[in-house]
Amino acid sequence: MSRTITVAVKRQDSPSAGSHWVRFRVAYEAGMNMTTVLQRIAARPETEHGQRVTPVAYDACCLEEVCGACSMLVNGGVRQACSALVDDLLADRPDLITLEPMTKFPVVRDLVVDRSRMFETLKTVRAWVPADGYFDRGPGPIIPQKQQEGDYPLTTCMSCGCCVEACPQVHEKSPFIGPAAINQAVRFNEHPVARFEFDERMEALTAEGGIADCGNAQNCVKVCPKNIPLTRSIAKAGRQATLYAIGKFFRE
Ligand code: SF4
Ligand code: SF4
Ligand code: FES
Repeated sequence: MSRTITVAVKRQDSPSAGSHWVRFRVAYEAGMNMTTVLQRIAARPETEHGQRVTPVAYDACCLEEVCGACSMLVNGGVRQACSALVDDLLADRPDLITLEPMTKFPVVRDLVVDRSRMFETLKTVRAWVPADGYFDRGPGPIIPQKQQEGDYPLTTCMSCGCCVEACPQVHEKSPFIGPAAINQAVRFNEHPVARFEFDERMEALTAEGGIADCGNAQNCVKVCPKNIPLTRSIAKAGRQATLYAIGKFFRE
């Protein structure tokens, strides 16, 4: 008999519906990841008891841990489904693999969540290089190699939401912008052109929901799939916010 794996998926039909668990059995293939498993379920959406159901909804795009779209809870831990290898998961827990949507974002359907909250926080901290026109402005300022190397890890954020999911300070009642946005504020404050909007970024970081809401639990840095030094960024943002607040006190 061919080997199968059992996958329990936490399902939800709509944003307002309640959730329920459904178990599927999927034929094992060497080297498969959890997105492959979801593709197999979509191709044959039958519960473990043979009951026909609607295919499980999930997000995916790049399939190589670059876009961040497929973030979900796999066996209770937040990560990307496309890089969650079945062999590794079975080594930890051979009888069952569980999939759930992230909890800090509204569920759209099944494993699909709405990550708008994250993108709004990127707007709050002006996570961009301002460009007020499309004309050729000539070469930009040269960024020294050493600074480029230091900044590069901060630029690899894919807005996957894992750090937000893990952060105890991010919840329904909290306006906290979260670790990813703080990291982006630090990253753009370093940029020779984006630095011109330093004050606007610091206003956001020192306002309600800013850096002061970070409890320094450091859960964020542990789950970041890109190994971004989030706690270093948070510490730097804290120092910048203190100096900005002192400077503002004497300016006003
Ligand atoms: S250090 Fe803790 S409280 Fe601060 S952003 Fe990271 S997880 Fe959240
Ligand atoms: S900082 Fe890391 S965990 Fe957070 S959104 Fe960016 S890539 Fe994901
Ligand atoms: S599909 Fe892009 S990170 Fe998984």
